[in-house]
Amino acid sequence: MAKKIKLFDPSVGTKEQQVTQQVLKSHFWASGAGIGHVKKFEDSFRKFIDSDNCVAVNSGTAALNLALSLIDLKGKEVIVPSLTFVATVNAILLNGGKPVFADVKHDTMCIDPHHIEKLITKKTKVILPVHYAGMPCDLDKIQQMCKKNDLILIEDAAHASGAKFMGKRIGSHGDIVCFSFHPVKNLAMPTGGLIAINSEHRKMRDVLLARRWCGITNRNNFEYDVKEVGWNYYMNEISAAIGLVQLKKLDAMNRTRRQIAKRYSKEINLERKMPFDENCSYHLYWLMVKNRKKFMEKMFNAGIETGIHYRPVHTMSLYKKNISLPITETAGKGIVSIPIHQNLSDAEVDRIIRTVNQNV
Ligand SMILES: Cc1ncc(COP(=O)(O)O)c(C=O)c1O
Repeated sequence: MAKKIKLFDPSVGTKEQQVTQQVLKSHFWASGAGIGHVKKFEDSFRKFIDSDNCVAVNSGTAALNLALSLIDLKGKEVIVPSLTFVATVNAILLNGGKPVFADVKHDTMCIDPHHIEKLITKKTKVILPVHYAGMPCDLDKIQQMCKKNDLILIEDAAHASGAKFMGKRIGSHGDIVCFSFHPVKNLAMPTGGLIAINSEHRKMRDVLLARRWCGITNRNNFEYDVKEVGWNYYMNEISAAIGLVQLKKLDAMNRTRRQIAKRYSKEINLERKMPFDENCSYHLYWLMVKNRKKFMEKMFNAGIETGIHYRPVHTMSLYKKNISLPITETAGKGIVSIPIHQNLSDAEVDRIIRTVNQNV
């Protein structure tokens, strides 16, 4: 029986093992203030994406929750795709806003700017695009709409570490950009996330630092003050140390993902599949199949893991809406993710392509 091919698989080299050992032996595993490796990671990631400021947190979910906490969303609407992980939308609700779901584009599965335009009302405050599977959204069009309508652009870049739009890294465009470093992500940590802040929002670093550690401010030795509530959202030292190693090889790992994506887009005999784009970080590679259940079973029986990203959020009980999002709903039924990551060998990529083609 051939080796099982995993859908996701982090890169674990000797460097990651060394730094983990070092942090363990140092007995300094975490600090609410985020000193040590956490600060180093923030500085390095900020340079990498060329944002104005960065705050590391302990998940992409925490990044989204904190990012939206910076905006007064009471009675306000946030335009968001329904084809996303539910954390994107939960963050809106948790901060008192109302999610307004937009459809995605047929070719990229990223939020459709034409639909956004139709959804903007007097109550709209934020546009929250998701760089789905690592494919950059049409940020130029979305930024223009934000400017014209005085809206804030908050990007969910959970899939887009290292991706680019118009020659600049994702993280340098929007007012606030949220990353995830969950173990399945392009830059993997045991647990982690980050908020990049640009333009006027760059001044919010201190507010974010307080909110990621229970509201604690004005620390002076053992003294501190609390002016508002906060959470326990700080990143730990092991994650940050691993993140620093992963950041150094992120471009190389993404290059491998792109090489695989290029082959999939040429060699898989399906009409609807993820397109090839040099700017994409290819966190996922999606196919649109007719009988998904059967296809996934066949792949599983051939030792190849697949996944569904995602069940559309507007079809979940909490968010159920009587709206029609035709492209999202079609994707909800037929979209399937196949393995794409830096640990796949050429022979494994051959096997995935062959097995897909035999079963679509
Ligand atoms: C699009 C998207 N947003 C947000 C998140 C949340 O990130 P985390 O799992 O690090 O909390 C994820 C994680 O899967 C995601 O895929």
